[in-house]
Amino acid sequence: MKALRTTSCLCVCILAAAGAALRASASEPAGADKANRLVIHADRGRDTINRNIYGHFAEHLGRCIYEGFWVGEDSNIPNVRGIRKDVVEALRGIAIPVLRWPGGCFADEYHWMDGIGPRSARIPIVNTHWGMVTETNHFGTHEFLDLCEQLGCEPYICGNVGSGTVQEMQQWVEYITNDGQSPMTALRRQNGREKPWRVRYWGVGNENWGCGGNMRPEYYADQYRRYATYLRNFSGNRLFKIACGANGFDFRWTDVLMREAARLMDGLSLHYYCGSGRRSRSATKFGEEDWFAQLQRALRIDELVTSHCRIMDRYDPKKRIALIVDEWGAWHAVEPDTNPGFLYQQNSLRDALVAGLTLNIFNNHCDRVRMANIAQTVNVLQAMILTDKEKMILTPTYHVFEMYKVHHDAMLLPTELACADYAFGRDRIPSLNVSASRDKAGRIHLSLCNLDPNRPQTVACELRGDKASKVSGRVLTHEAMTAHNTFENPQVVKPAAFDGAKIAENGLTVDVPAKSVVVLTIE
Ligand code: AHR
Repeated sequence: MKALRTTSCLCVCILAAAGAALRASASEPAGADKANRLVIHADRGRDTINRNIYGHFAEHLGRCIYEGFWVGEDSNIPNVRGIRKDVVEALRGIAIPVLRWPGGCFADEYHWMDGIGPRSARIPIVNTHWGMVTETNHFGTHEFLDLCEQLGCEPYICGNVGSGTVQEMQQWVEYITNDGQSPMTALRRQNGREKPWRVRYWGVGNENWGCGGNMRPEYYADQYRRYATYLRNFSGNRLFKIACGANGFDFRWTDVLMREAARLMDGLSLHYYCGSGRRSRSATKFGEEDWFAQLQRALRIDELVTSHCRIMDRYDPKKRIALIVDEWGAWHAVEPDTNPGFLYQQNSLRDALVAGLTLNIFNNHCDRVRMANIAQTVNVLQAMILTDKEKMILTPTYHVFEMYKVHHDAMLLPTELACADYAFGRDRIPSLNVSASRDKAGRIHLSLCNLDPNRPQTVACELRGDKASKVSGRVLTHEAMTAHNTFENPQVVKPAAFDGAKIAENGLTVDVPAKSVVVLTIE
């Protein structure tokens, strides 16, 4: 079966003509599978893919902050002011653009003043959301902002609405960003930081429909308006205020928030976890049924983003307000013999496909989606990095983020895709998923995911409005769909050079291996 898909918001007007346009394309490259046709509109770029779509999230949860980032200054693990060097270096390798902290559910129970001042004097608390373990408060505001400076990324702080106060959040902003004289700035200086930091992204609560207070959207909208009023711009620091958004398919939440509070927000968030397999929730022990179920659910983020954007368009047709998908990813069962409250899971080739297709979808919605934060950076859920004390490995998801770096701040090129379906039982999903962009040097980058674990796909790719003379690329794949990296074998899944793309008369032909992520550079 052949399905036609446009993969850019620009393409609405092209849609009707798209079938005809694809059929009329001249000179289909030899050997191309007739079902797979891709048009890249190289001359129709309009929107920029905000690099923050490649953002991350780090919560005080399990071993994400403690051990994942923070080992303390006295640790044997090499560190800079307590922050581990290997992790920072690895994350610099994917040009991490923005990091959200301190939660998650933890954010609505976090009182920032517990985490400032001499570490030896900070009072431990109980992390009630995540395993009831002791939270030492050794990693607080100063340590987080130092981490962001070491990573070279923007901080995104999520404030406490659920159990906090307007005054507490207002003072946090002032403590961090004010250069003037006030009790908060005096406190900051006393704690060793003379100059303020620049923090732009500020979240007003997390999941306030659930762990952040079980609020109704009408109530939260009023709370948001109240909090947003007192979050001030100090000393030239302009806050970008992000309201708590919907849980997945809760469209009423978005509608009420946009109706009642759009005027006071710069961004509205959205959370979507695509779960795990159907039969097995194991991250590494699963069959094709689970592979299919997981990718089918991951693809639903396209319809989800489209529907939330449609609501936002009604209230904000000029798209001033960004949709911020500040938690997304796969959620498997925890690894055997680990604390269920720590959400530590392995990460396989299937997770790489989840990342690849989701990032393609965000790219294709970049007119409204201007930040996203995969959950979570180290040792929690769909992580980039796993650590075991001093050891560290990179996951297949990390490699996708590294390969997709080429899309950061590039111009989205609209695409039209007609492709074969990948069928399993009675269900079917498109086998291919793509996005394309042009970077500042004029090169075109095309990322393709083949979700079918059994069949390679040959794609005839027409480059409209440009000519290709050279193509190179990399691929991430493996014979086993459950392939993953371990501390014993850390290089099982890693990118390799790709020679399956050839220049054709009006574009190129690409042989996309089964179960793979391919990124091409076209010059
Ligand atoms: O990422 C783990 C948790 O998932 C977060 O704390 C919460 O916001 C979400 O439900």
